[in-house]
Amino acid sequence: MSAVHDFLLFLKEFAKNPMRVGSVAPSGVQLARRMVHAADIHPDHVVVELGAGTGPVTRELRAAHPEVPLLVLEPSPQMAALLRQAHPDITVVEEFAQDLPEILRKWGHERADRVVSSLPWTMWSEEVIRSGLDAVVEGLVPTGRMVTFSYVHSQTLLPASRRFRSLLNERFGRVDRTRIQWRNLPPALVFVCGEPATTSPRTGR
Ligand SMILES: C[S@@+](CC[C@H](N)C(=O)[O-])C[C@H]1O[C@@H](n2cnc3c(N)ncnc32)[C@H](O)[C@@H]1O
Repeated sequence: MSAVHDFLLFLKEFAKNPMRVGSVAPSGVQLARRMVHAADIHPDHVVVELGAGTGPVTRELRAAHPEVPLLVLEPSPQMAALLRQAHPDITVVEEFAQDLPEILRKWGHERADRVVSSLPWTMWSEEVIRSGLDAVVEGLVPTGRMVTFSYVHSQTLLPASRRFRSLLNERFGRVDRTRIQWRNLPPALVFVCGEPATTSPRTGR
């Protein structure tokens, strides 16, 4: 399928459900590559992609790491169908990140080593962000890593973005940021999250 077809499908899905899709255009190739590089994937890793959309990150993941088992979660049936057509070797499920541990078990892997997320976290309520992050942390091995991008404008303008960052810091012992990828519409940066938090996010102990 062409880039124009992907863009139009993305726009159509955004019009149907803006809070779920979270952006009017798919990520550019530079941002997708930055995500994959930041994920630091090794040949023996099990990898999950959350919110693949029309697949810009999936394409880069597959190009860089054709050998790793890759599970893709994309709840939009139209986008999931496109992904299956483009990548018949990948497992694509129309499910939500919040159910990740159960989906991983059904797929035959207890935990993943890497989670590559494009989820629209800052569109969500605190409760939905918490359940998504809990599912990711539960689904990752202790040495695991999650990468996720965030648009630069939302970092400075949206209170939801501050809330998301503080929830990331609660869940992970280490949260780093990459440089801004200006050649993306809109410009974005990647959060690289690893090491289990030493305190429980629920009890604070
Ligand atoms: C901002 S788009 C990113 C799409 C693509 N990865 C990209 O970079 O262009 C977010 C995607 O996350 C999907 N999504 C939204 N909520 C989700 C959830 N709870 N679990 C999994 N995917 C979700 C949407 O359907 C949408 O395709």
